[in-house]
Amino acid sequence: NPRVIIDTDPGLDDAVAILFALGSGRFDVLGLTTVAGNIGLDRTTANALGLLAVAGRGDIPVLMGAERPLRRWGIDVVAIHGSDGLGGITLPPPLVTPQTGAVEWMARQLRDNPAGTIDILALGPLTNIARLVADHPDAAKRLGRLIIMGGTVDEPGNVGPRSEFNFASDPEATAIVLQGGLTPTIVPLDVTRRVRADMDYVNALRGTMHGDVTAQVLEAYLQDGKQSRPLHDPCVMLLALAPDLFDIETRMLSVDLSDGADAGALQPNPNGSPVACALRVDVPGALALLKTGFV
Ligand code: BDR
Ligand code: CA
Repeated sequence: NPRVIIDTDPGLDDAVAILFALGSGRFDVLGLTTVAGNIGLDRTTANALGLLAVAGRGDIPVLMGAERPLRRWGIDVVAIHGSDGLGGITLPPPLVTPQTGAVEWMARQLRDNPAGTIDILALGPLTNIARLVADHPDAAKRLGRLIIMGGTVDEPGNVGPRSEFNFASDPEATAIVLQGGLTPTIVPLDVTRRVRADMDYVNALRGTMHGDVTAQVLEAYLQDGKQSRPLHDPCVMLLALAPDLFDIETRMLSVDLSDGADAGALQPNPNGSPVACALRVDVPGALALLKTGFV
């Protein structure tokens, strides 16, 4: 099993990704580090704790990270994820007390374990990861894979014409991480928009504890009357387990650091940094693999 740290801002699709990671038994989750994004840090942390409680995992720590982006104010998406970040669903009480110092904790894990053996799966704005890269470069170099949900490469954005929520939330952090020499893999909207849950898919997940909660989460996500919703963050988990489901191409990219509508957007740039980008996905294969986490 991959040994992973999940950096997250739950968030409805984050919740599905986390429940999949815990329910599938195919990840060794060392900890959840939280970041402000879909909602404030207090809520993303409370939601992370509730999700671990669903899975009965009092052995997995929750570490609180950044309360706001490096230099900006964040973007309000209460309309999508609800005022509690999880569409109002009720989760069991926490099994553990959250700790502060997510970035230092990540650095310690990386130093205390053999180099290359810990992956980070980043599901939110990259504030915590940028601090790791900037403040603990020796530890960051010991990372295994860094797989990030964020950005869009060849397709329109979901915040600005070319910008995606996670990268737009903290453009400076995105630039630090993509240009930090770590060879990350990004899972952009180009693929995550194609992997969608509709009500039939949701109903097929029911029947286990994880599956029932995941179905509730996705029902909340579908409440806006849309036929189907994109499973952005779960695609990171799927790529970690089955990279062959994706076509991955390296592009030379930089990050728009302006104050305009496309702040945080990826720009093709021969002088930028090489970034491995998942650009196509086997959709039926991805949806089938995701379902296996809830049986
Ligand atoms: C990303 O933004 C968040 O709202 C989702 O959780 C996902 O990580 C998609 O743009
Ligand atoms: Ca997220």
